Amino acid sequence: MGTAAGSWRGAALAWALALLAAGGRVGALENGLARTPTMGWLHWERFLCSTDCAGEPLSCISEQLFMQMADLMVSDGWKDVGYEFVCIDDCWMAMTRDDQGRLQPDPERFPSGIRKLADYVHSKGLKLGIYGDVGNKTCAGFPGSYGYYDLDAQTFADWGVDLLKFDGCNYGTLDQLAEGYRNMSLALNNTGRSIVYSCEWPLYMRPMQKPNYTEIKHYCNHWRNYGDIYDAWNSVKNILDWTALHQDSIVDIAGPGGWNDPDMLVIGNFGLSWDQQLTQMALWAIMAAPLLMSNDLRHVSPQAKWLLQNKEDNNFELWERPLSRGAYAVAVLNRQEIGGPQIFSFSTSFLGNGLACNPVCSIQQILPTSEDWGLHNWVSFLNVEVNPTGTVLLKVVVITEPPDEKLVMNMNKNPSPDIL
Ligand code: GAL
Repeated sequence: MGTAAGSWRGAALAWALALLAAGGRVGALENGLARTPTMGWLHWERFLCSTDCAGEPLSCISEQLFMQMADLMVSDGWKDVGYEFVCIDDCWMAMTRDDQGRLQPDPERFPSGIRKLADYVHSKGLKLGIYGDVGNKTCAGFPGSYGYYDLDAQTFADWGVDLLKFDGCNYGTLDQLAEGYRNMSLALNNTGRSIVYSCEWPLYMRPMQKPNYTEIKHYCNHWRNYGDIYDAWNSVKNILDWTALHQDSIVDIAGPGGWNDPDMLVIGNFGLSWDQQLTQMALWAIMAAPLLMSNDLRHVSPQAKWLLQNKEDNNFELWERPLSRGAYAVAVLNRQEIGGPQIFSFSTSFLGNGLACNPVCSIQQILPTSEDWGLHNWVSFLNVEVNPTGTVLLKVVVITEPPDEKLVMNMNKNPSPDIL
């Protein structure tokens, strides 16, 4: 018995705060941005470089995809919990620059242009991210910014872009790589527009040279250290192993204005089990990482959505004891000793190792007052209000008989007021 579902989040926050404090010692890029790790959505891991809008209209890299994601960021509560940037990755460009040497979007996939897309994203209270490359070509073979840093920075600023992910493929010499990252940083600053600068500088220099993180933080708001994430536990594990191994050189540098970027969150996709998704969320929080989801916001399970939107950084603990006849006693304890009552939101899938409400359970509040909370299933979310240092005690009874359809409908349509 005794799981402390809330405690890892508390630990995560404490660690992030420690990193914030540590980071204060190091000179950061003075653009005033990324005071906390950037949060948003980035297309790469989930949508890659699909340019075939006739064959794959729903997943090709097009203005429609980013407009849909912007809509959902607002309507589905992502913006409310802090996800702010809608970010385009590679494959948005036309294969050639325009007659004035400027980058241009693919005219068929972005017929309205990036300026219009930025306006749309801004009209939703969100920000737009875009992608470029320090070398001659992007990793997918589109025009790179080498020789065009000032012009490209100005083009992005003119369009109203708010973040640049600057990749490091096809860069020439190591000196050109470093110079390119520095020059683009200065070029962005010179535009006078606030543009978060997301680098991959240490990743590309590391095989040959040890990165100078003080310098990198001086120019970049975040930086990738390690290879691309995949939708697989092995990939998450590799990133964690690398981070553990190199912690002495990367932990102290992170802080307001500059963050280590272990790459996108792949929660809500196909490859990670629930426990592995919990691990990614917890460990990315502990690393004070930018939280850039790469998933399909049109199809995110309620469980993954709950995990990605969970803002809890409190002192809740969830305790449970199996009782006889398939029942569980569940205690929700608020250990906070300051402020007023707090709401602890959690999924019923936490209970009884995922079995207590599968397929259905009835929940009764025993303390502080006796209340019937009705029927729930394994995708229900409970919102439990608990006073500081107080506890709410619940009794959860598994219902193994398949519920008739009417009951399930009632259950979904008429949740008790205490329950989301
Ligand atoms: C990789 C980069 C990925 C993605 C991809 C696009 O090098 O690390 O995150 O941007 O290029 O081609």
